[in-house]
Amino acid sequence: MDDLYTHAVATILEAKNNGATTFGLATGGTMEPLYAKICQTDVDFSHCISFNLDEYVGLEATHKQSYAYYMNKHLFNQKPFLASYLPDGLAVDPLVETARYEGLLQQYPLDFQLLGIGQNGHIGFNEPGTPFASLTHLVTLEESTRQANARFFSSIDEVPTQAYTMGIQSIMRAKCILLLAVGEAKREVLERLLSSDYTEDVPATALSKHPNVIVLTDLQEEENK
Ligand code: GLP
Repeated sequence: MDDLYTHAVATILEAKNNGATTFGLATGGTMEPLYAKICQTDVDFSHCISFNLDEYVGLEATHKQSYAYYMNKHLFNQKPFLASYLPDGLAVDPLVETARYEGLLQQYPLDFQLLGIGQNGHIGFNEPGTPFASLTHLVTLEESTRQANARFFSSIDEVPTQAYTMGIQSIMRAKCILLLAVGEAKREVLERLLSSDYTEDVPATALSKHPNVIVLTDLQEEENK
């Protein structure tokens, strides 16, 4: 497992050394050891710009389960960027907020995008059925996604029902994508991703058409276990 994160950090630093300055970042349990490892390096992101994939609707940046809080805690407090953007979970008008965020993404095209994956194949918060052509938008979270993320909250009732997320097309525009799939719970969806499937029922399968995707996993092939 340590190898996987060492490899992931090396991939990010290599992209940066090769000139990447705009980074799409992800949250979730999978990313915590990665950010911890990045913080142990002497990498300097102070001339780089970051964009997060998503944010819960209704949580302010100081709320401990907001992705803004997560990013400050796990990365930005130790490794500040020149500018870090996340959707604003408290935005009054979703249409204005999604247009604002998508506009920023188009102004600063992503050189590198980090991705986790949901058990149902979501990337960012693009739930099954999201059009591959989608841009930043407001989503209603699937019950299974709320349940999967409830472990970070005191109870499922506290998990927001909506979120803002970069769209699948917004993600696919990144020049390079690094996806981390860690833990048995991700096996089934990883198999779908690595098969030749290309279906909006499994949002991550959009990546099969991306020219530069790296997938890192701790999962062994079943017969080798
Ligand atoms: C959330 C995030 C996703 C993330 C997923 C997996 O739903 N919006 O971006 O990939 O969780 O999280 P974990 O790494 O905790 O399994």
